[in-house]
Amino acid sequence: MEYLTLPQTDLKVSKIALGCMRIADKSIEEVEELIKTALESGINFFDHADIYGGGKSEELFGEALKRHPEYRKQMIIQTKCGIIPGKRYDFSKEHILKCVNESLERLHTDYVDILLLHRPDALCDPQEVAETFNELYEAGKVHYFGVSNHTPLQIELLKKYLKYPIIINQLQLSIVHSVMIDSGLNMNMKEAFAQDKDGGVLDYCRLNDITIQPWSSIQASWAEGTFIDHPNYQKLNDVMQQLAHKYQVTKPAIAIAWLLRHPAHMQPIVGTTSSQHLKETIKACDFTLTRQEWYDLYLANEKPLP
Ligand SMILES: NC(=O)c1ccc[n+]([C@@H]2O[C@H](COP(=O)([O-])OP(=O)(O)OC[C@H]3O[C@@H](n4cnc5c(N)ncnc54)[C@H](OP(=O)(O)O)[C@@H]3O)[C@@H](O)[C@H]2O)c1
Repeated sequence: MEYLTLPQTDLKVSKIALGCMRIADKSIEEVEELIKTALESGINFFDHADIYGGGKSEELFGEALKRHPEYRKQMIIQTKCGIIPGKRYDFSKEHILKCVNESLERLHTDYVDILLLHRPDALCDPQEVAETFNELYEAGKVHYFGVSNHTPLQIELLKKYLKYPIIINQLQLSIVHSVMIDSGLNMNMKEAFAQDKDGGVLDYCRLNDITIQPWSSIQASWAEGTFIDHPNYQKLNDVMQQLAHKYQVTKPAIAIAWLLRHPAHMQPIVGTTSSQHLKETIKACDFTLTRQEWYDLYLANEKPLP
């Protein structure tokens, strides 16, 4: 496993993180096994959110920590707040404080290393968020702050009031869902791919030392599920298969290597719940795709280039 020091922090993190969104329906033994595999493989970064499994994901992870208290010191734990499923977004002080306290309780820990605002709240008052973050930091409950699914201007608005840096922007990104890359490649073209839908978020994050954490890196869409072996993505699967053969890895490892090849030093969040899949996928760190292979994968997904 390779490591990087997250810019604006003293956190040395594994290049690949484990996302815990899908562990909610696993047994405690399966979760313990997954965490053990992750730690033994060098993964020290675990991503959560208050809403994953309605709190069950954090609860199971916390139960594993209770059984293995020695794990906590080896881990960097990130969680998120701000979504109330099916209802609305809420970045109010009252809601964020409640969420963090409940997450800490479920996770059986006194602090989270990083707290992210999960998805933009139209009624966000950045001054109120700043006050909330101050309180959480001073109480020692949160060490660093970041966002997820935020545009550059939304981050700038927060930064105007925050005392602490925004260190992460967690964003959907994969070979198939590459909106933030498409517009830059097709600048000034008439086609839909040229539309800048996110305010240049990729370059903004790079310019501001905000680490991008790609999520759903092997998912096509909620409806289709993974693009790995999916008939709608035959050409892409053919190219992934050729590269998988060349590098002696699996197709998910190729999809993650595609993210790691980008010079933005992203930290992909891998969402598998299987120890075997995890071990296969992190082999993405062991090789580097060539420039042409990166473009071959991009273009295998029927993307236009000017
Ligand atoms: N910030 C946000 O808004 C947001 C949104 C969604 C997710 N996230 C975060 O991102 C993480 C990753 O998202 P995700 O779970 O959608 O990501 P993912 O890594 O793209 O997908 C994981 C899913 O793909 C399946 N899969 C199928 N074949 C696989 C193979 N050969 N190898 C590995 N996995 C295979 C996994 O099944 P198995 O379990 O059987 O391996 C699992 O169900 C989440 O856990 C969460 O932490 C953030």
